[in-house]
Amino acid sequence: MFKAVVSLVSLGFFFAATTSVAASHSSFKRDNASYCPYPPYSTRSLFARQANSDLDFSGSQWIWTNEVNTNTGVAPVGARAFRKTFGPPEGKTPSTLTIAFAVDDSATLFVNGEDIASQTGWTTSGTYCVTLKPCMNVIAFNASTIGGPAALLVTGEVTYTDGTTSRIVSDQSWRTSGASIPNGFEQPSFDDSSWPLAIGEGAYPMAEFAGYGQVTIAGNNPVSINSANWIWTNELPSPGGAVPAAARAFRRTVTLPAGHTSASAQALITTDNQYSLYINGRFVGSGTTFQTAQRFSIDNIQGPSVVIAVYGVNGDGPSPNPAGLLASLQITSNDPSSCLNCSSVVDVITDTTWKAFNSVPSGFEQPGFDDTAWPAAVTEGTDGASPWGTVTVPSAVSASGTPLPGAPAGN
Ligand SMILES: *[C@@H]1O[C@H](CO)[C@@H](O)[C@H](O)[C@H]1NC(C)=O
Ligand SMILES: *[C@@H]1O[C@H](CO)[C@@H](O)[C@H](O)[C@H]1NC(C)=O
Ligand SMILES: *[C@@H]1O[C@H](CO)[C@@H](O)[C@H](O)[C@H]1NC(C)=O
Repeated sequence: MFKAVVSLVSLGFFFAATTSVAASHSSFKRDNASYCPYPPYSTRSLFARQANSDLDFSGSQWIWTNEVNTNTGVAPVGARAFRKTFGPPEGKTPSTLTIAFAVDDSATLFVNGEDIASQTGWTTSGTYCVTLKPCMNVIAFNASTIGGPAALLVTGEVTYTDGTTSRIVSDQSWRTSGASIPNGFEQPSFDDSSWPLAIGEGAYPMAEFAGYGQVTIAGNNPVSINSANWIWTNELPSPGGAVPAAARAFRRTVTLPAGHTSASAQALITTDNQYSLYINGRFVGSGTTFQTAQRFSIDNIQGPSVVIAVYGVNGDGPSPNPAGLLASLQITSNDPSSCLNCSSVVDVITDTTWKAFNSVPSGFEQPGFDDTAWPAAVTEGTDGASPWGTVTVPSAVSASGTPLPGAPAGN
């Protein structure tokens, strides 16, 4: 660790109507990943599942490999693999998994061999919903530490086709690789029986050694701008410092979890001095006063990527003339193949994972634009930081307005 850095709505008649179907096909369905005793959730509201309801880490252990120093939590620098194989209780068929994790320092989550999400850090998590196979399923992580204490924390909730649920938590039953991670470690067919068991470092929220604490799970709270950072380009001499009075381009790309094809987003955003916001090339809205953020609700975002692009303008002003972009988006996506409402939620805040360019290239707001050569954005402090103070956030959705003069028209 480097410090710098279901509820399920169900009705009795439904179970009565489906029990005989499930029973008469039980051996068939366990081998058939396409078996689906329900119609897709989108055609049916009675059984819509509130994904990520109350997912939390209670009962989860911070774990690492048996290389971890049990007095200090320190482990060798590098990547290690973690696996948990799970099957249903007798007579039940898994439908979906909602899962969240925290890691010191970074990890990629795989479910049944599919790359679901990558995260860095031990204070926040997305909520990821994945459609499960009818019988055995495998969660795998490739987790890395860059030095100091190392730990992985996982919580998951399996929903069965009968609407019941069970928990999966990180604990000493997980298997861990050594320093060399074999190819295919994330695949269900991989044999991990010779891998050592994980070491527990303490129950959530605390680990015994490091200062771990509460982990915030996206979707358990509405979108908030509080922990977002004011950002600008690498022209900044220092946080809140003077930068040219000109327009600049900002981008952040979010890849939806495997199987998730469409999304919606809630956005809070403001800029000193003005901005226009685009999602996948579509104009969302503009704002012209940094003291008050705007709130936007964006539907029908087509995956697999969500490209957030901002045309930000630092207007003329007395010296020093600071500039900043402050934004927070909550992106909810769906797996339409799921029998249930399989929703993932990720929170995206302005930080150094955004790209910021010192001019405005034509077409920069389009999803196909290549920003790989753009520098990372530079942060200037979170909401409340000087010289801006705390931004006012409206509770109602804001008017979109029109693109700023000079900004792209959008799709
Ligand atoms: C699997 O189940 C689906 C839906 O019930 C069915 O259409 C398909 O034929 C089954 N596949 C096999 C190999 O049995
Ligand atoms: C699915 O769940 C999400 C998140 O809880 C919710 O916003 C959405 O309305 C649900 N969709 C359906 C079809 O029930
Ligand atoms: C595991 O993650 C590390 C760090 O991102 C990466 O370098 C390595 O290639 C990954 N290993 C495998 C087997 O995917």
